[in-house]
Amino acid sequence: MITQTETVLNYHNRTKHRLERYAKGPESIDWEDQPDQFRRFSGCEIVSLPKPGAELEPSFAGLDNPEFIPAKPFNLANTGLLLELAFGLSAWKQFGPSRWALRCNPSSGNLHPTEAYLISAGNDFIKSGVYHYVSHDHSLEQRCRFSDNLQDSLILIGLSSVHWREAWKYGERAYRYCQHDTGHALGALRYAAAALGWPVELLAEWSDDNIARLLGLDRDDFKKQEHEFPDIICRINTHANKPLDIKALLECVQSGIWSGKADSLRAYHMYKWPVIDEVSIAASKPETDEPEWRKARQQVFKSSCTKTATEIIRQRRSAQQFDGKMPPMPQADFYRMLAAVLPVTAAFELWRWPPKIHLFIFVHRVEGLIPGLYALPRHDDAVEKLQAATLADFDWQQISEALPLYHLYSGDCKQIAKTLSCHQPIASDSAFSLGMVAEFGDTIATAPWHYRRLFWECGLIGQVLYLEAEAADIRGTGIGCYFDDSVHEILGFKDEQFQSLYHFTVGMPLEDKRLETLPAYEHLKNIV
Ligand SMILES: Cc1cc2nc3c(=O)[nH]c(=O)nc-3n(C[C@H](O)[C@H](O)[C@H](O)COP(=O)(O)O)c2cc1C
Repeated sequence: MITQTETVLNYHNRTKHRLERYAKGPESIDWEDQPDQFRRFSGCEIVSLPKPGAELEPSFAGLDNPEFIPAKPFNLANTGLLLELAFGLSAWKQFGPSRWALRCNPSSGNLHPTEAYLISAGNDFIKSGVYHYVSHDHSLEQRCRFSDNLQDSLILIGLSSVHWREAWKYGERAYRYCQHDTGHALGALRYAAAALGWPVELLAEWSDDNIARLLGLDRDDFKKQEHEFPDIICRINTHANKPLDIKALLECVQSGIWSGKADSLRAYHMYKWPVIDEVSIAASKPETDEPEWRKARQQVFKSSCTKTATEIIRQRRSAQQFDGKMPPMPQADFYRMLAAVLPVTAAFELWRWPPKIHLFIFVHRVEGLIPGLYALPRHDDAVEKLQAATLADFDWQQISEALPLYHLYSGDCKQIAKTLSCHQPIASDSAFSLGMVAEFGDTIATAPWHYRRLFWECGLIGQVLYLEAEAADIRGTGIGCYFDDSVHEILGFKDEQFQSLYHFTVGMPLEDKRLETLPAYEHLKNIV
């Protein structure tokens, strides 16, 4: 009998892109039959949220020390703003007759498998229950009305994934991208909450089954193959209240009145990807007793950004092309970006597990740095292990006193970076691009669901990089397409101890002048 860990490892290996062949995906894509990006539940009571687009005072740089940001009152407007800044629309793009929405959280292929839910109890501004957020309409669909009320004021945010929405385009590898997107969404939630002065607590102990029960994902309200899978549940912890009574909350859900059926996402299910169902089961999370992982905050390089947090959050985009002739980016900005992804910053305070992701960086155009390969181990204990596992001729010279940044190799890595990232020029025309390398084998061996957690950590790092790039007046792009084992070969990894799970690139964007940009919520302009 094959174990759950083996199922996860098999999935990981068979979904590697290789120079000679890509992971298995659809042979043809019917663009006319794209799954609906916006899930809706018919038959629910709709709660319209106050008009989107409100500004908040805190600066982006101020989010480094969120405890100094006065907490906004818990009300419908601010709860709506939290949802908008985390998961709402940021713009529409138009090219000829085609029009598509962008959101504050990025998504591989802009397919947006992540769905967001709000659970409210004991708040006078909204009836207690479970709500699904419809980012297109900036509204909530009430899925469950609690008949028992919990006394303490409570706001939870739940995240789930519609794997099929992503698999429609990417086939078997899609499950990985769904996990990345969850990590990005978690990061987006953290920044949105911090701008409101609200800490976020990731409820890491919860099992997937209980998250599914809470969000109603275990109900018979979904079309076959369009199911949502539970991912993460967070508490918006404005009052530093007592531990959450999971049992009482689940009783509210069980005795509550549910309504609504998920509308079909419409596309024709031409291809089936059973390995995604298999890995979803093998990597499902049981209830766990998570050790508290916390490190004292250290702030090494201050952000020089003078924009507000809301501006940066709403202007975040992926660059589709970079200016390969850009002058080198300022070293101070580069160091700031790297410092921002260390697990000792405020952005990672919601993260409940020991850090397992390290960066290997192809520096192309950074002031004062020799082009080449560098490493940023994100915790000290990993340095020796990484050094032992990588090529013997890497020199591992620490080049900054303030940062764990090591020089490995000097030389022009543009072509290598491009080839490794599925031949995409965004990996070579940038200031730098990087691979996120996970402490993989041992982590998965502890529990197979940690496979997802590693991708979530990559997504969270990616979200920090996206926003830091905007703050430095440049732009980033997540890269899910790369040749896994070719990356390992270049770095010298010979086994599954370390695996690269995500790539990212940052540089000076070139705008595509053919695309028109339209405001995010003009279609709702009649809302008061
Ligand atoms: C997990 C992930 C993987 C991605 N992979 C690629 C990629 O390989 N190449 C690329 O050009 N863009 C990639 N992107 C960028 C997405 O295409 C982009 O986020 C999406 O089109 C939405 O646009 P926006 O980020 O501007 O909102 C990726 C994004 C994410 C979150």
